[in-house]
Amino acid sequence: KKISERKIRSPIITVLGHIDHGKTTLLDYIRGTIVQKREAAGITQHIGASFFPMDTILDFCKAPESLRKKITIPGLLVIDTPGHTAFMNLRKRGGAVADFAVLVIEMPTGPMQTTWEAVRILRDKKVPFIIAANKIDRINGWKPEKDADFMESYNKQNKFTKELLDKYLYETIGLFYEEEFPGIERYDRIQDFTKNLAIVPTSAKTGEGIPTLLIVLLGIVQQYLQKKIEYTDGPAQGVVLEVKKETGYGMTLDCIIFDGHLEKGQQIVVGGLNGPITTHIRALLTPKELDEIRDPSKKFSQNEIIYAAAGVKILAPGIEDVVAGAPLRAVGSEDNIDDIVKIIREELETINISTDDEGIILKADTLGSLEAAALLFKQEGFSIRKAEVGAITKKDVADAVAAREVDEYSGQICAFNVKILPDAENEALDQNIRVFQSPVVYRIVEDYKEYITSRKN
Ligand code: GTP
Ligand code: NA
Ligand code: MG
Repeated sequence: KKISERKIRSPIITVLGHIDHGKTTLLDYIRGTIVQKREAAGITQHIGASFFPMDTILDFCKAPESLRKKITIPGLLVIDTPGHTAFMNLRKRGGAVADFAVLVIEMPTGPMQTTWEAVRILRDKKVPFIIAANKIDRINGWKPEKDADFMESYNKQNKFTKELLDKYLYETIGLFYEEEFPGIERYDRIQDFTKNLAIVPTSAKTGEGIPTLLIVLLGIVQQYLQKKIEYTDGPAQGVVLEVKKETGYGMTLDCIIFDGHLEKGQQIVVGGLNGPITTHIRALLTPKELDEIRDPSKKFSQNEIIYAAAGVKILAPGIEDVVAGAPLRAVGSEDNIDDIVKIIREELETINISTDDEGIILKADTLGSLEAAALLFKQEGFSIRKAEVGAITKKDVADAVAAREVDEYSGQICAFNVKILPDAENEALDQNIRVFQSPVVYRIVEDYKEYITSRKN
């Protein structure tokens, strides 16, 4: 397609909410995939992006012709975010690039700690959102009706069940009121979606209310977000979600491009551990439609050019030190590279993990998960001597020994999703350095906590 024909881009929709409230299952229901089942412990540990083509969504919603005619957006770029508190930083990034958000809240539990965190991020970044009041199928007496429109299903419930649902919704609305969020209403009672915030009851198990949620979302996005998603073509602007090694490719950057376009061979500036990194794009990889960027079982396709909005995996030389969450900019023919380097440098100054002389040696597969793990250890009051991305090396064991010399309880290695090199493993045994490992971050923290507690008692 010619650039001049692309008037608006796909809006970026971030799905946020408390752990296990049903974000991934809700997306899976639409995707028809089983991403959630493949994840370790059913927890989303990295931000993923999926592109939902508009036709797929409209078919899923059984959208009426009148709605189809109104829709001009090409699709939705949806970012799923992890709900566990450990992933606050990742969630912050997801929230930061969003044009619109879906806040998932489990019924009858209602809003929890992470729900409020998400709400604060959204308010901070001025991201409009709707609420999915999820798991309505669990309400006492609920008679399910697969994929039904919410009102259709609601009207078929008995009086008692209807009243229960209304009560749960009012409780949630009340809690939002206390958090100074007045004006939340069930979607069908709203006249002006710029004045009220819509709540749509859903079930990611039976599909009830999901078509309703999408229709409400499309209506709002199409009607009120035009300005925000107008396509201004030019050099790409994006954000790095993850920096990771990909089998067969080496180091790659998972990015969300929210403005402009990116070309193969083009020069880019991206945030690194020690400042901005200037490099050029060797390959632009995308997963197939309706697939997940983090799914290793599917082949990527190669692209010559990528237009916003898109989730893209970038191959480029010299990107080992890139920081997840850092901004990325393409260098256009009219750009002054020094100006772009300066912008990136300023943004980088906001990302940092502080360390102490004592404490653990923390290793993780990505900077995103490293930051998340660091946060969780710090919340539990544990010190960190060193936090680094990559496999466990002999040097890490030496650092652990050094930490133990400062403090007798220090000097363990905590590793999330990384390998231990054979010589490091032998050295750890020789030096009596404990290594805590798990593909689930909070489990490492719990194991470590248990160990420290037992030693101190
Ligand atoms: P994190 O990514 O860990 O924050 O969780 P999440 O919000 O993505 O929740 P997830 O999709 O992993 O769902 C958590 C659990 O709730 C799973 O066992 C789902 O099967 C279940 N679940 C999700 N939605 C519904 C629903 O609408 N009804 C019922 N009964 N169960 C649901
Ligand atoms: Na989960
Ligand atoms: Mg999830």
